[in-house]
Amino acid sequence: MAETIELHGGDKAARYRELLPQLASLVDGEPDLIANLANITSALRECLPIASWIGFYIRRSDELVLGPFQGKVACVRIAFGRGVCGTAAAEKRTVIVADVATFPGHIACDAGSRSEIVVPIVRGGEVVAVLDLDSYELAAFDEVDADHLARVAELAGTLSW
Ligand code: SME
Repeated sequence: MAETIELHGGDKAARYRELLPQLASLVDGEPDLIANLANITSALRECLPIASWIGFYIRRSDELVLGPFQGKVACVRIAFGRGVCGTAAAEKRTVIVADVATFPGHIACDAGSRSEIVVPIVRGGEVVAVLDLDSYELAAFDEVDADHLARVAELAGTLSW
């Protein structure tokens, strides 16, 4: 297992490219879901200093429940279909919100958040969780994040849910 995450790349895409194999090695051979999700959030934080909050919401029947995260305390339960997280889960698609003030139903866990990306984690065709990232900056996340976080979500989908 990697003991530290080392990212040397200058731009975001380069940092993600360095991060992905390190994430795979971080979770390799470790069966504990919570431990793996916790380490993934920590590694992502190193990769994405622009993110103010990085975490998982885990599906429990018709709700998403707060899982491992990095950042300030957050809302614990989000109904499927509600907010950015619930929308990404219900529609099984990545949602990028450049300005949360324009997203109807956005759930403000931290009043400072300005933009957000939520990526669903799908296993066996079902959404088992979402990966949520927030930023204090407007339009912090784009297609580069969506592409690479989809790979993180793919890796997360292989864990022991
Ligand atoms: N903003 C999210 C809620 C979760 S927090 O950002 C950590 C949403 O609208 O679903």
